[in-house]
Amino acid sequence: MIGNQAQKLEELVASNSSKKSKKTRFIAITSGKGGVGKSTISSNLAYVLSQSGLNVGIFDADIGLANLDVMFNVKIKKNILHVLKGEAKVSDILIPITRNLILIPGESGDEILKYSDMALFERFMEEAQVLDKLDVMIIDTGAGIGEHIQMFLDAADDVIVVTVPDPAAITDAYATIKTIATLRDDIGVIMNQVKNEKEALAVFNKIKKVALANIGENLSLELIGKIDHSVKVSTSVKQRALFSAAYPSSLVHRDIVSIANNIIKKLERDVLVTPNESGLSGLFKRLMGHF
Ligand SMILES: Nc1ncnc2c1ncn2[C@@H]1O[C@H](COP(=O)(O)OP(=O)(O)O)[C@@H](O)[C@H]1O
Ligand SMILES: [Mg+2]
Repeated sequence: MIGNQAQKLEELVASNSSKKSKKTRFIAITSGKGGVGKSTISSNLAYVLSQSGLNVGIFDADIGLANLDVMFNVKIKKNILHVLKGEAKVSDILIPITRNLILIPGESGDEILKYSDMALFERFMEEAQVLDKLDVMIIDTGAGIGEHIQMFLDAADDVIVVTVPDPAAITDAYATIKTIATLRDDIGVIMNQVKNEKEALAVFNKIKKVALANIGENLSLELIGKIDHSVKVSTSVKQRALFSAAYPSSLVHRDIVSIANNIIKKLERDVLVTPNESGLSGLFKRLMGHF
C-alpha cells in the first residue's frame, strides 16, 4: 500500500513541478555534534544570500534547541506539520524576514514523513507552489546522523558539514562525513570558531587526509569556508540579532560573504546542467524516494 501511495505522490509532484521553470538549490547544513554553529551559520548565510538579490528560503528542521526563530527574533505559532495535518495553509506558516528571505518553520523528517494522507498532501503541494520562486533553500538539519536527517542529506544539492576545531567535534564530524559518504561523493565543510584561515586549513586538511585514506578516493571533500571565533557572533545570538546585519564591517561577516560567494559560484555553474525541480515541491519530490 505504501508503494502505491508513493507512486501516486510521485505522479502528483511530477505534474506540479512540470508547470514551473525555476530551479531551487537545496543546501543542507548539518553537523556531527550540536552546538557547533549550524543555526548561526544557516541564518546569517541565508540573510547574506538574500542581500545579494537571490530569493532565499530557510527551512528549520533542527527542532529542539534554540532554533531559527531565535536567530531571526520572530515568533512561530505553526509549522509545516500543521499544514500536513490540514490545520493551516502554507501561507499561514511562512514568516517573511526580509523582502526576499522567508523562514519556513519545519519539523523533523520523522514527523513529516508520518503524513502520507493523499488528500492533505495534494492540497499541500498546490499551496507549496508559492515557494517555487526560491533560488536557494537552506535546510538547517539537526545534529547527528539519524535516519530522517539522512533523508534531507540525500535529497539536497549540497551538503555542508559544520565543525569546530576541538578534537571531539572533529571526531564527530569525521563520523558524519563517513555516513554521508554512503549517500553521496561530494561533501562540503565549514570550519567554525577558528582562530584564523591557517587553523581552518590545517584542521580541514587533517580531516580530508583521514577521509580519503579510509573512506575512499572518490570522496570529494571541499572546504566551503571558515568563520572565526568572535564575541560578535555569540553576543548577536544572545541579542537575537544576525551578526551579518549587526556588524557588516566585521571579519566574521566577511567570512560569511566569502561562503555565500562560493555558493553563488556553484549556482551559476550548475544552472544550465541540472533539470528543473522547484521550491518545496522539488524537495518533497526528492524525499519521495524515501517512502
Ligand atoms: N563563530 C563563532 N564565534 C563565537 N561563538 C559562536 C560562533 N558560532 C557559534 N557560536 C556560539 O555557539 C552557540 C551555538 O551555535 P548554534 O548555531 O546554535 O549551534 P547548532 O545550531 O549547531 O546547535 C551560539 O549560541 C553562539 O553563541
Ligand atoms: Mg541549531
